Amino acid sequence: MKPVHVAVIMDGNGRWALKKNLPRYDGHWKGAEVAEDIIEWCNDREIKYLTLFSFSTENWKRPQAEINMIFHILAKYLSDRLNKVIEKNARLHFIGDLDALNPETRLICLNSEQSTSKCTGMVINLAVNYSGRSEILKAAQEWNGKDEFESHLYTAGQPDPDFLIRTGGEKRISNFMLWQMAYTELYFTDVLWPDFSESDLDLALEDFSKRERRFGGIG
Ligand code: IPE
Ligand code: IPE
Ligand code: MG
Repeated sequence: MKPVHVAVIMDGNGRWALKKNLPRYDGHWKGAEVAEDIIEWCNDREIKYLTLFSFSTENWKRPQAEINMIFHILAKYLSDRLNKVIEKNARLHFIGDLDALNPETRLICLNSEQSTSKCTGMVINLAVNYSGRSEILKAAQEWNGKDEFESHLYTAGQPDPDFLIRTGGEKRISNFMLWQMAYTELYFTDVLWPDFSESDLDLALEDFSKRERRFGGIG
């Protein structure tokens, strides 16, 4: 079985750069290339939903120069590659609080969402200024106790991730999709995100295909 929804914690950009004696930025640039690649690989494998963790609410703790560079890369990729996304008939959707971004970056995000809103192929969720706890809190504040709780999450209308891939060696969730990951299969690899390749994806998917998902039942 292949997953319908794959979520990825793209971690290890900084360490990749450090290992090569490069500034951390270079890791983020290379990481963005791989993010673009994994969209292609998942599209080829007919994975319908792909969620990429790009920036967490905790990442504001980083040096301002690094934060600026991460958003610069995001804005540049969105502007330069939007046509490619549309060609693939893929829909871009942002999860997270975009209000905290600088107005220019926020506009680029909203525009790319708008320009792909009619696309019916793969759905790409970009988690930007995302916090799982804040998402749950926001949904709880909006919820009237009667309608479906999930309809107040950023991922409303989407299936929960079947499979989470975290690169970079850490075995933790780091405040990502806490509600949605209740029954997600977890996969951790030491490969640093900028080194993550198409065959690494296939290795992960092969691992997923062997899992027995019971959802509390007896299989
Ligand atoms: C992931 O790589 C990218 C973001 C969190 C924005 P890191 O920058 O966290 O890389 P490491 O974990 O320091 O190697
Ligand atoms: C998680 O990576 C966030 C993203 C990949 C965007 P971090 O590098 O921020 O996670 P921690 O700090 O190691 O938990
Ligand atoms: Mg990290």
